[in-house]
Amino acid sequence: MWTHRFPVQGAGLGLRRALMSPLSSLTTDQVSFMEVAPENWIRVGGRLGHQFRSFTERFPFVCHGLSLSIGSPAPLDKELLGSIKHFLSEHGIRSYSEHLSYCSDDGHLYDLMPIPFTEEAVHYVAGRIRQVQDFLGQRIAMENVSYYAAPQQEMSEIDFINAVLDEADCDLLLDVNNIFVNSINHRYDPELFLRQLPGERVAYVHIAGHYEEADDLRVDTHGSDVVDPVWQLLAKSYELFGVMPTLLERDFNLPPVTELLSEVDYIRQLQGTFETSSSKGVAHV
Ligand SMILES: [Fe+2]
Repeated sequence: MWTHRFPVQGAGLGLRRALMSPLSSLTTDQVSFMEVAPENWIRVGGRLGHQFRSFTERFPFVCHGLSLSIGSPAPLDKELLGSIKHFLSEHGIRSYSEHLSYCSDDGHLYDLMPIPFTEEAVHYVAGRIRQVQDFLGQRIAMENVSYYAAPQQEMSEIDFINAVLDEADCDLLLDVNNIFVNSINHRYDPELFLRQLPGERVAYVHIAGHYEEADDLRVDTHGSDVVDPVWQLLAKSYELFGVMPTLLERDFNLPPVTELLSEVDYIRQLQGTFETSSSKGVAHV
């Protein structure tokens, strides 16, 4: 039973500054929705601001925050939240999400640190998410993050995520690449992990490429093509939870736009496969 409607539909792409000119004639047939980090755009005016506006007028948008630092001991940044609230309404942005992690200090550093997987942290973080939802007057989605160390682990990652989502009563931004990266680095079965997530809370899905540092160490860089096992995990998530809006994240080492759009096309193809198979009552990967 779905508790909410998806904020967007189809196959999306993260909008980066370097992509604005190459994508200036893009249509919603090619990319159904776009995502930005509000911190990168809140105070942008002038020519760049106009260019950004031309995208938000043509495409459905969602926001994925970078620096709210939901797990941090520092008080919530109400000034930032106020700016985000204004930004969402100014551009008609349909949803806001953040990472289930915190910045390494309150200086808005973009390296995201893991929250200790403890009962105490569940209550603390869920309370903060509720405060954010109250402040913004809307549900938000929290993303399952990649992490490289797990300090003070009293519970498993999956139990921690589920407990936070439940207590905060918020949505999930499901990142299938992060599940895959964590499954290698922390040695677990990615499909088993995926199966235990609450599909009915998913707002939309992220897919991305990562860096293979070693056989047993992957780094979530968003700097290369999506690898096959991650595509398979996306297919599995459609099989388990139904077709969900899905966005390609690419931050570094940007390929030519045609290559980027071919990955977005592939998302759309996969969605089509599962839409067709589920309408026939058949779901398979
Ligand atoms: Fe992500």
